[in-house]
Amino acid sequence: MGELQGVDILSAGQFTREQIELVLNTTAGIRRRRRDEQLKMYPGMILVTTFFEPSSRTRGSFQAAALRLGGGYIDMGSEKVSSLAKGEDFNDTIRTYDRLEPDVIVVRHPEIGSAQRAADLARSPVINAGDGTNEHPTQGLLDLYTIWSLRKKKLEGLTIALCGDLKNGRTVHSGVRFYSHFGCRLIFVSPDTLKMPTEITEGLRSEDVSVVETSNLIAAMKVADVLYMTRIQKERFDNESNYRKVSGSYILTPEMVERVNRPKMLILHPLPRIDEIARGVDDLPNAVYFEQVRCGLYLRMALLALVSGRLS
Ligand code: CP
Repeated sequence: MGELQGVDILSAGQFTREQIELVLNTTAGIRRRRRDEQLKMYPGMILVTTFFEPSSRTRGSFQAAALRLGGGYIDMGSEKVSSLAKGEDFNDTIRTYDRLEPDVIVVRHPEIGSAQRAADLARSPVINAGDGTNEHPTQGLLDLYTIWSLRKKKLEGLTIALCGDLKNGRTVHSGVRFYSHFGCRLIFVSPDTLKMPTEITEGLRSEDVSVVETSNLIAAMKVADVLYMTRIQKERFDNESNYRKVSGSYILTPEMVERVNRPKMLILHPLPRIDEIARGVDDLPNAVYFEQVRCGLYLRMALLALVSGRLS
């Protein structure tokens, strides 16, 4: 049985370094295959996607991944077209899609712990596509894969600066747990009210990782190999007024990138962005956030193949 066959993917914290390397190498292997070979990998596969929160990338790339492996998908659709509109609850929705005997169920929901709840209810393996402000492990993996593939498969010793809403950002909560396996130096850049939660920082593998906190983005950029920008997440604030106090705290411009003069520094963002990266940055060779989207397709193909036992 493969290392990840039948395993629910719920948190970055569940992964060993060996499993992370398996995912990275499997993703690279699938990416090297011709499209006609990829299409023969998993004919007849059925993926279910249940998104109780909006998504473009995660939903789209899981569905594309299923198609590229030769399978298909069933999408729950929005609340308007599913039986959620008639009052059906989360548990019954998950149980219903599970009884269609899919190979994998992907779940996004605003509540922390919702993916675990789905995994407890479902017989099929469940992949967490974001449970509230908690985790987004497949985004963390695709971020890691993007850096690994663009930095010649070397992660040890990299300095990674993460900037923005570190309190509510589930992608960074998962990401730092992955980076901590590789002796990375982490710099957390945020306004005081949006700092990385202490339970995440304290839970990192302290022997392998060093952490610095600051509010100074330029200082972090001067030493960063990777700059990971994030959106201030309006939907996580109690009211508009509190959001306005921190919105626009960090806006990365081409002039700032030029000023620090680090031509090899990679700029990542999980997307969607609002104003935290000026559009002019997109034309710089440092900007790899749309390459991240492409990497996400291959990474999710690899995960679906590994969880289903098609590869080990
Ligand atoms: N990065 C990410 O999760 O994007 P979506 O919300 O569009 O899926």
